[in-house]
Amino acid sequence: MRATSGCIRGADVRAERITVRAGLRPILRGVSLWAQPGELVGILGPSGSGKSTLLNVLSGAIAPSKGRVRVDGTDLPHIIREGGSAIGYVPQDDIVHRHLSVVRALMYAAQLRLPAHWGERQLRAHVDAVLRLLELTPRSRAKIRTLSGGERKRVNIGVELVGQPRLLLLDEPTSGLDPALERKTMRLLRRLADDGRTVILSTHVMGTLDVLDSVVVLCDGVVAFDGPLPAALRFFNVSHPAAIYDRLRDVAPRVWRSLPGCGSKRASQRYGKAGPQAGSLRHTGSLRHTGSLRHTEPEPQAVGVS
Ligand SMILES: Nc1ncnc2c1ncn2[C@@H]1O[C@H](COP(=O)(O)OP(=O)(O)OP(=O)(O)O)[C@@H](O)[C@H]1O
Ligand SMILES: [Mg+2]
Repeated sequence: MRATSGCIRGADVRAERITVRAGLRPILRGVSLWAQPGELVGILGPSGSGKSTLLNVLSGAIAPSKGRVRVDGTDLPHIIREGGSAIGYVPQDDIVHRHLSVVRALMYAAQLRLPAHWGERQLRAHVDAVLRLLELTPRSRAKIRTLSGGERKRVNIGVELVGQPRLLLLDEPTSGLDPALERKTMRLLRRLADDGRTVILSTHVMGTLDVLDSVVVLCDGVVAFDGPLPAALRFFNVSHPAAIYDRLRDVAPRVWRSLPGCGSKRASQRYGKAGPQAGSLRHTGSLRHTGSLRHTEPEPQAVGVS
């Protein structure tokens, strides 16, 4: 568990060998992921690789065809049946009514999500604290439709934060933001994790990944890598995170499928032999030495192994 400065008890989240199918077509295949309190985890991967689907599974919005998600050792469907207040999910699109003021939107969310015995004054103090955390206090009376994209993103995060989630899931929270706002939002998410929350996000934005504790790289519905970003750069033998996407293109998806979770060292530590076959690359030394790759891929040398 990561050392946290805050007093919020985050959630221990374990997704184990998740498979999701749309009809016959598999969208996720045996995906495992583990996030602990205080951790900020980024899900990366090309468009269509399954990031949003995985977040939907982690939030309980989609039930997997196979596998399970446990939060603090309890099966997710059970947690959802109990009200699911431990989990906050910020989808990519706005979830707030644009004609409301910022403070009204957060007050409504607080009334819905917090215990019924909380009085108006207590709710307001709580909402004010969330506004301060998100640096939205100066805009609290503004109508949401008048906010900038970055401010609106923070309101969306605020709507979930007022419910005091221990697990915060965010689908592309920085898309469409300018680089300064992107950095600011990622630092905010880092701070939310440092307070103790478990934070899992998907992103295509490569400039600010240094704040993440670990990345889960999806390719065509399988985990191509799971671990800290520097290890990912070594694994894919690239100097910049954006180049990981080139590597994923170089190596056909069927290769990742044939070596499910091959870069998933964390998962191997966590799930042992029953989990993703994370050790497969370590044993073979490199993809180049992996028989299945030698025969199937013309340029496997491009991918190194740490
Ligand atoms: N309900 C559904 N029915 C059929 N196919 C689906 C459904 N939901 C997602 N898919 C397909 O599953 C794949 C993964 O979708 P998903 O939205 O998880 O990708 P993503 O990695 O989030 O992509 P992006 O980066 O573009 O947001 C896509 O090919 C998508 O078309
Ligand atoms: Mg998506």
